[in-house]
Amino acid sequence: MSQPKSKPEVIEFLKNRRSVLIKDLIEPGPNKDELETLLTIATRVPDHRKLEPWRLLVIRGEGRGLAGQKLADIRAKKHDLIPLQLEIEANNFNRAPLVIAVVSSPVEGNTPIEEQTCSGAVVAQHINLAAAALGYASQWVTGWSCLDKDAQKALGLAEHEWIIGYVYVGSTEVEPADRARPDLAEKVTYLGKP
Ligand SMILES: Cc1cc2nc3c(=O)[nH]c(=O)nc-3n(C[C@H](O)[C@H](O)[C@H](O)COP(=O)(O)O)c2cc1C
Repeated sequence: MSQPKSKPEVIEFLKNRRSVLIKDLIEPGPNKDELETLLTIATRVPDHRKLEPWRLLVIRGEGRGLAGQKLADIRAKKHDLIPLQLEIEANNFNRAPLVIAVVSSPVEGNTPIEEQTCSGAVVAQHINLAAAALGYASQWVTGWSCLDKDAQKALGLAEHEWIIGYVYVGSTEVEPADRARPDLAEKVTYLGKP
């Protein structure tokens, strides 16, 4: 039997990858070729019945301010907010050079909605992985607009779509301390011996 083809560098990369807070993301973001690579890796995910039940909104450049303003306008209609709060909302996406909204776009049929959501969540994590592999930092966040019907409409989503998360991507100068990681003894149950 042939030996497994270990890839120590990849193992090290995966063991150490971590998110970087949005406040620590700076310019530059991925260039055109890097973005293409990132999106290719992001969409190379397990997907039961090949439904591709997700899509991506690439929010960058002036698109960040335009999308942010749309969301701020919606919030202004729903809540009694002071100008500073609306300004923060409008500038939300300007906090990183690139923001990718992962949209869940479920398909009707025999594949449970939960499975389709899982596939979309993997897309989001693949963005984290691809960004790190390309030398960038990233963070997956959510927020009120992910599940708000008016926000979804303003961002061009169809009635059945929703936002799994926004992955903010950029460069960084910080080396974030790792956070506590799960205790395998608590999380893993072995059924059978190797
Ligand atoms: C679905 C989902 C939503 C999240 N939303 C937020 C959020 O809104 N704000 C936040 O600070 N972290 C949020 N996180 C957590 C961060 O993305 C990330 O898990 C955390 O910063 C540490 O990640 P790491 O294990 O990649 O280092 C979310 C994570 C997931 C999976």
